[in-house]
Amino acid sequence: MSLRLGDIVPNFQAETTIGTIDFYEYLGDSWGILFSHPADYTPVCTTELGRTALLNGEFQKRNVKVIAVSVDPLDSHHGWVKDIEETQGCEVGFPIIADADRTVATLYDMIHPNASEKATVRSLFIIGPDKKLKLSITYPASTGRNFNEILRVVDSLQLTANYSVATPANWNHGEDVIVVPAVSTEDAIKKFPKGVKVVKPYLRYTPQPNVE
Ligand code: BEZ
Repeated sequence: MSLRLGDIVPNFQAETTIGTIDFYEYLGDSWGILFSHPADYTPVCTTELGRTALLNGEFQKRNVKVIAVSVDPLDSHHGWVKDIEETQGCEVGFPIIADADRTVATLYDMIHPNASEKATVRSLFIIGPDKKLKLSITYPASTGRNFNEILRVVDSLQLTANYSVATPANWNHGEDVIVVPAVSTEDAIKKFPKGVKVVKPYLRYTPQPNVE
């Protein structure tokens, strides 16, 4: 069965481009992003891994550890990493799992047989420091993911984990956020000293609490 939000994600041991890892040990107390791609030496995947590598500093700032996976073997990953670095102008600083026996793909339900019998789809999981699943997305092989959107979601998840707020449509870091319905307007005024704007009793905005 596929993983659902709030589930504890399964641990595994795997061969990767940085050696054998235990997934939980690799994550430690950090947030984690585990994402699959269909195959090495393919164009969209090359751009996705390059883009992720170029955003390395942004993931580090947010205390997020990234790890990629496909069912290709380790020697293929090592050869392809050189191509990614050459063509995308980056250094691939995160591990890529060689999941030839499909252990990880099966645990995380990354093979969707009606899309492809053999290759993983573009699954992406954001995992909290508590090892619980915070977000999952699935894209088809033909559509590369937007890794700026992934960073935006991480910002929202990290904010809403610590404050009684939610983030509105198209929100970006620094913009006003929404007071969650569970907090009364009276309590919100005490909780959020920067102010509360009441548009409707159920639609209340406050400046993002954790920025100056
Ligand atoms: C790609 O990464 O370019 C790709 C992979 C599998 C199918 C189609 C495109």
